[in-house]
Amino acid sequence: MDLKVEFETHFGIAHTRWATHGIPNAVNSHPQRSDKGNEFVVIHNGIITNYKDLRKFLESKGYEFESETDTETIAKLIKYVFDNRETEDITFSTLVERVIQQLEGAFALVFKSIHYPGEAVATRRGSPLLIGVRSKYKLSTEQIPVLYRTCTIENVKNICQARVKRLDSSTCLHAVGDKAVEFFFASDASAVIEHTNRVIFLEDDDIAAVAEGKLSIHRIKRSASDDPSRAIQTLQMELQQIMKGNFSAFMQKEIFEQPESVFNTMRGRVNFESNTVLLGGLKDHLKEIRRCRRLIVIGCGTSYHAAVATRQMLEELTELPVMVELASDFLDRNTPVFRDDVCFFISQSGETADTLLALRYCKDRRALTVGVTNTVGSSISRETDCGVHINAGPEIGVASTKAYTSQFISLVMFGLMMSEDRISLQNRRQEIIRGLRSLPELIKEVLSLDEQIHDLALELYTQRSLLVMGRGYNYATCLEGALKIKEITYMHSEGILAGELKHGPLALIDKQMPVIMVIMKDPCFAKCQNALQQVTARQGRPIILCSQDDTESPKSAYRAIPLPRTVDCLQGVLSVIPLQLLSFHLAALRGCDVDFPRNLAKSVTVE
Ligand code: G6P
Repeated sequence: MDLKVEFETHFGIAHTRWATHGIPNAVNSHPQRSDKGNEFVVIHNGIITNYKDLRKFLESKGYEFESETDTETIAKLIKYVFDNRETEDITFSTLVERVIQQLEGAFALVFKSIHYPGEAVATRRGSPLLIGVRSKYKLSTEQIPVLYRTCTIENVKNICQARVKRLDSSTCLHAVGDKAVEFFFASDASAVIEHTNRVIFLEDDDIAAVAEGKLSIHRIKRSASDDPSRAIQTLQMELQQIMKGNFSAFMQKEIFEQPESVFNTMRGRVNFESNTVLLGGLKDHLKEIRRCRRLIVIGCGTSYHAAVATRQMLEELTELPVMVELASDFLDRNTPVFRDDVCFFISQSGETADTLLALRYCKDRRALTVGVTNTVGSSISRETDCGVHINAGPEIGVASTKAYTSQFISLVMFGLMMSEDRISLQNRRQEIIRGLRSLPELIKEVLSLDEQIHDLALELYTQRSLLVMGRGYNYATCLEGALKIKEITYMHSEGILAGELKHGPLALIDKQMPVIMVIMKDPCFAKCQNALQQVTARQGRPIILCSQDDTESPKSAYRAIPLPRTVDCLQGVLSVIPLQLLSFHLAALRGCDVDFPRNLAKSVTVE
């Protein structure tokens, strides 16, 4: 299909959809429309949970549906509200206001209509939405006041009239004089950064309207933050930061960025001279955290693995019970949470719906909530009581790599900060801080194994399955390595706890099945040797990631990849990198789209 079609318009809407309802095809794609005449069109990120009821209602009123999407109900609903309006001069944003009062679920929406030429209305609840602002000229304001209306649906009409009167220059954003200003609506800052680094983050239930080049924001309920205005923020991300450079994929670039991203996570926070760590976003809450009953660390996918990877270190340095939880399962179980719990939410995007819902669940139970995200202004960073920004820089590849190592380091820094006063832990702390200092150099050393790992990928890429086995500090490496392989190569892969080998997985071992074993010189070394012997005794051909000073394991290996050694609790930062590289090379050799694997999204904003 030729996509280079030129349009004569100054305003357009489009959406790259992650299919929740209906297969990905032309009819189900966005915008969805109210009718064949395109009176109202809408794009939607999220999921409408009561769409079946709405659809039934609208069908009973004679509306005919074309698609299988939940979104189409929104387009039809706004036309229904319009067709049944009580006054001719009803505003576009009032229609949207009425529509969202009927919607349940999560949404970020942008509407367009032939009845309101040149106007756009956008709103959100539960799904992220921001507005990029670009103008060569001075802007009328840096803070847009939010017009509040505490009202019921019955008195909406009067309120609208009041609002129309109040929408003067002081309540809108525009360029001074009659100069042009451009607005970009997007779910994520990386989509607009090419055009502008100035953005406004909308709150749930904000309704933003652009008409005649002016932007205004209103809402009918007071916002969660209670902030009476929305500020224009300047993002630090640079376009070149999100370009691929010489790499063939963003994921590859991001793997190779890890010496810098890990350094940036520590920058200004770890003092290698005084052996202290200061996380500015947590310092005011440290006393409260030290008094807590337990830590609960919650995330999805790779972010969950960062929690698994650092659990033992957190237990050791905080001397607190630490639970690690997959957000969806945590919610499914209605897990008991108490007000003296401290709950961490790990999320690269800061927008993952399951993690966000778990956060709200913990907030309702009055626990202290801590965000660990890579996205300033994201929902999780805004809704938590305090937090750590991991500073890894924008991550574009769907398969997370550099965010994992930076989340890992952030949690280590938190453990170090918590243990500052523990005399018995001083030697251990110093050892870890020294380890942190040398990590960027050691990561470079691991990255220099790229060619060797490419050769290994050449041997493995036609396989159907790959097992990744380890234990202790490196169990998370196996889970994360297997996830990377699954996500982008579509091969079956499983991360196996070596301690569970004889409880089932051993049955999978034969001459054919490739097994990657992570065996490091750490307290689990002897037990890992045991697992290795069990694998070789069944004629398995283990590929071993081992410590450079390990002379024993390579003897039983089909292939050995020696890695530089660091402190046991930091080793996972180094041992995951060969698996990131391996998954990348396997995917490339199998002809897969490394950055955009089928069926997956970078940020899953639906439950
Ligand atoms: C999606 C992505 C994964 C990511 C997970 C959690 O599934 O494809 O790469 O690990 O979401 O995302 P978050 O942004 O919360 O870390």
